[in-house]
Amino acid sequence: MSKPRVFSGVQPTGNIHLGNYLGALKQFVELQNTADCIYCIVDMHAITVPQDPEELKSHILDVAALYMAVGLDPEKSILFVQSEVSGHAELSWILTCNSYTGELSRMTQFKAKNKGQESAPAGLFTYPILMAADILLYDTNIVPVGNDQKQHIELCRDIALRINHKYGEDTLVVPEGQYMKEGARIMALDDPTNKMSKSAENEMSRISLLDEPAKIKKAIMRATTDSDAVIKYDPENKPGISNLLTIYGALSDTPIEEIEKKFDGAGYGDLKKELVTVVTESLEPIRERFNSIRYSSELTDILKDGAAKANAIAEPILERVQSRFGLGL
Ligand code: AMP
Ligand code: TRP
Repeated sequence: MSKPRVFSGVQPTGNIHLGNYLGALKQFVELQNTADCIYCIVDMHAITVPQDPEELKSHILDVAALYMAVGLDPEKSILFVQSEVSGHAELSWILTCNSYTGELSRMTQFKAKNKGQESAPAGLFTYPILMAADILLYDTNIVPVGNDQKQHIELCRDIALRINHKYGEDTLVVPEGQYMKEGARIMALDDPTNKMSKSAENEMSRISLLDEPAKIKKAIMRATTDSDAVIKYDPENKPGISNLLTIYGALSDTPIEEIEKKFDGAGYGDLKKELVTVVTESLEPIRERFNSIRYSSELTDILKDGAAKANAIAEPILERVQSRFGLGL
């Protein structure tokens, strides 16, 4: 049997943080040995909100270097930039014509970002269709993503099933999402009721993979907790402490119950201090590798080679879909 095909993507908007790492990238690395993996830097998704062109270019290379710094190996996985493979935009249009405005307006991420304004860019509305095209363009079986993308994956499946029903069951491969148990959703340190995000204004709300030890310490020591002084995993009533336990457990590969036992009777300060060490020690080798890759000439060669490989897979799949629809000659 051939290996399953895996596809996932990260937006090049700001530095990758612990949520991205634990919710998505860690799985990307693990899947490399058992699946046929394609990992994309989704720059066309990034322009759904205005971007400074120079910054965007530099963030694309940052994410590429971080992909490699966390352990993605271009010998094993295809690493490339979305806009280098034109099939994403082409398939996206075909899917757009088979999506409903009703289902798009139910996307919680859209509702949160557009805030009911008529002037929201249409790309923000159709963004989940482009994401579906990314996935379907490669006959993907598995999509490793954070929990926050569940609704988008379900939409992708709905669109694929709808098209298959109309144009033949083997038109598109229907993918499955794969969500990490621990770390599926890492919350903001300053407000554990919101997810950790690249775009939150408060720098102390997140830990980016490239943060210096002093910043890591400050953010963790200031993290919002509660006043009942018991170290127990209870996301509903103790979201702050639960988030710290999740991060601790995921980075040190320790079950949460074991951490609870270890800190039985200890204060929040003790947990935080140890967490600073765990996070700093986990991120240090990533930062070192990033620095050696980011400005090497090899980086763009790897991405160009990845785009050529991705394109070779995408082209026949796009042609198959176009022919089912009767497009072209
Ligand atoms: P993005 O930063 O939106 O490009 O997300 C890249 C990947 O990281 C996606 O698979 C997201 O689901 C995942 N991700 C983003 N934020 C978090 C978070 N706070 N916790 C867990 N996973 C996340
Ligand atoms: N929408 C995803 C996010 O914001 C990023 C993304 C774009 C993606 N295309 C994808 C993830 C395809 C998985 C597969 O996190």
